[in-house]
Amino acid sequence: MIKLIVCKNYDEVSDKAAELVLDLVKANPACTLGLATGSSPIGLYQRLIRDHQVNGTSYAQVSSYNLDEYVGLDISHPESYYSFMHRNLFDHIDIKEENTHLPSSQGDNLQKNCDDYNAKLAKVSIDLQVLGIGSDGHIGFNEPNTPFDSVTHIVELEQSTINDNARFFDNDVSKVPTKAITMGIANVMAAKKIVLVATGTNKAQAIYQTICGPVDEKMPASILQRHPEAYIIVDEAAASLLPKEEVKVEILNTANFDKNTKDGTVLIDFFATWCGPCKMISPVLEQLAPEYAGKVKFFKVDCDESQELAMEYNVTSIPNLVILKNGEVFNRAIGFQNRDMLIQFIESAL
Ligand code: F6R
Repeated sequence: MIKLIVCKNYDEVSDKAAELVLDLVKANPACTLGLATGSSPIGLYQRLIRDHQVNGTSYAQVSSYNLDEYVGLDISHPESYYSFMHRNLFDHIDIKEENTHLPSSQGDNLQKNCDDYNAKLAKVSIDLQVLGIGSDGHIGFNEPNTPFDSVTHIVELEQSTINDNARFFDNDVSKVPTKAITMGIANVMAAKKIVLVATGTNKAQAIYQTICGPVDEKMPASILQRHPEAYIIVDEAAASLLPKEEVKVEILNTANFDKNTKDGTVLIDFFATWCGPCKMISPVLEQLAPEYAGKVKFFKVDCDESQELAMEYNVTSIPNLVILKNGEVFNRAIGFQNRDMLIQFIESAL
């Protein structure tokens, strides 16, 4: 299930992502982090560094595994991901060098390097995986059409990725490596929690397809719809293509719910961002949560299609519901895979 968090700007995105990482590190000081490079997580890393300096949060027992590394750059090259991680995070916190891991792209036997990294990953369980997303929807360097069951492998970068990354190489595409080693999609999906950060209009199309499109290898990040706990934290620009439609839900019988009310009335609005069959949300909710029929009145805004028509669509996949309480966003989630998730979500507000 994807939990979408839309923030105003990059700073807020970084704050929110840092909050999730810090919650984990504080609760489990010996946790295992999956880390990403690129522009997107730099603000997150800056906040971890600041928190380490100010509050003393320690990484002495934390282990980290990075997603990827360019092939063809020595690790001492300033744009190697090894250098990036040291410059932007490792050198400023107390993580132990021996606990940090990146796939190695050095030497002649790259396949052996992939196998070695897979063997390492097989022995650990990543508690939280940080991700960025490419404008073509890649996660790690898993470009479109990478099999969802892939593990660490060598990849030829797409021209769009090379163009996007030229900004790190004096805007000269000829300097950008054309190959990389990357964790596969199966490795990424094995993480217990995923935190993907994306900002800017350049990412809007990929975010739209990730959240609203079909789960399809053509859009690698769409697999996150099947992850049990994937946060997607975006700014308004990256969220700009997500359509906004409204469905309201009114709780009528408040007998069980009065802990949240002053006068015995609870109103909850579900604002649904429904890509494609937006009109179907309300009947789908009614079918998925029939025991709420007496207590919850689902009423629709701009919804005039019949229930039969709703059934033509995938009724177990509701892309985006937001609970508003007292005018504030209380909870928001995307990609319900089954009824239990929907009920759990509704009950979180009661
Ligand atoms: C980096 C990585 C890539 C980037 C993606 C977005 O380790 O795996 O998937 O996250 O290319 O890059 P930025 O954040 O620079 O836009």
